[in-house]
Amino acid sequence: MSFDQKNIVVAGGSSGIGLALVKKLVAEGAKVYVISRNPGNELPENVTHITYDVTSASIDFAAQLPEQIHGFVYSVGSINLKPIQRITREDFLNDFTLNVLGAVTLIQQSLKALKAAENASIVLFSTVAARTGMGFHTSIAASKGAIEGFALSLAAELVSSKIRVNAIAPSLTNTPLAQHLLNTDEKQEAANKRHPLGKFGQPEDMAAAAKFLLSGESSWITGQVIGVDGGLSVLRPL
Ligand SMILES: NC(=O)c1ccc[n+]([C@@H]2O[C@H](COP(=O)([O-])OP(=O)(O)OC[C@H]3O[C@@H](n4cnc5c(N)ncnc54)[C@H](OP(=O)(O)O)[C@@H]3O)[C@@H](O)[C@H]2O)c1
Repeated sequence: MSFDQKNIVVAGGSSGIGLALVKKLVAEGAKVYVISRNPGNELPENVTHITYDVTSASIDFAAQLPEQIHGFVYSVGSINLKPIQRITREDFLNDFTLNVLGAVTLIQQSLKALKAAENASIVLFSTVAARTGMGFHTSIAASKGAIEGFALSLAAELVSSKIRVNAIAPSLTNTPLAQHLLNTDEKQEAANKRHPLGKFGQPEDMAAAAKFLLSGESSWITGQVIGVDGGLSVLRPL
């Protein structure tokens, strides 16, 4: 199996996209370490759960990781949609702390183990709204725009260590995070219609892209932001 003997860390692996990815990786033989505040009740057996609030800068979890990490995924994030008159400085700071600084802290603490593994891969999550203007998305678009810039700069910095860094930019995906946007038949129908491919996303769509970016099959891809969005960001069908 392609992930046999591979150690993969998935921050946010207890729910939604991260959980779908964890299930795929475990099925392919990976040893998976999940970081989140709670393990939830869906993690497969043999996954190591590390309890950690990524908004806290003070916890040191590096000692709980293996000596080599072949893949690191940051699948933690928020959807905090408000009109510009109502969104606060605190909203922006909270979104930045969760979406960006959490990733920075965890990657810093994982770096030694990532370097120790040959050809490691880091996968981050942006959003379609970082590059496609969408009302009420100012704060999350600002944070995810920052993640895209971070991903590119980090990819350049780590290329000499043969560590690849890429980001996925999803559109609306059926996870607990997006539940409030998909909790009626009307909302689901409208969401389906908004996407050129005629449907909103499923966690497995994002997990498949993340698994590809972690695998050797993407070994010549780094510094990219890949839209997995049913065509929303680029297509205007007639
Ligand atoms: N779903 C969408 O429509 C959508 C669209 C665009 C982008 N994205 C991005 O895709 C990624 C995955 O989102 P998702 O929809 O799968 O979210 P989700 O279902 O809410 O899962 C989020 C995960 O992050 C963990 N988490 C949240 N806050 C945390 C904290 N402070 N410390 C540690 N762990 C924390 C959660 O576990 P605990 O709560 O137990 O900590 C959970 O495992 C995110 O980066 C999100 O911004 C999603």
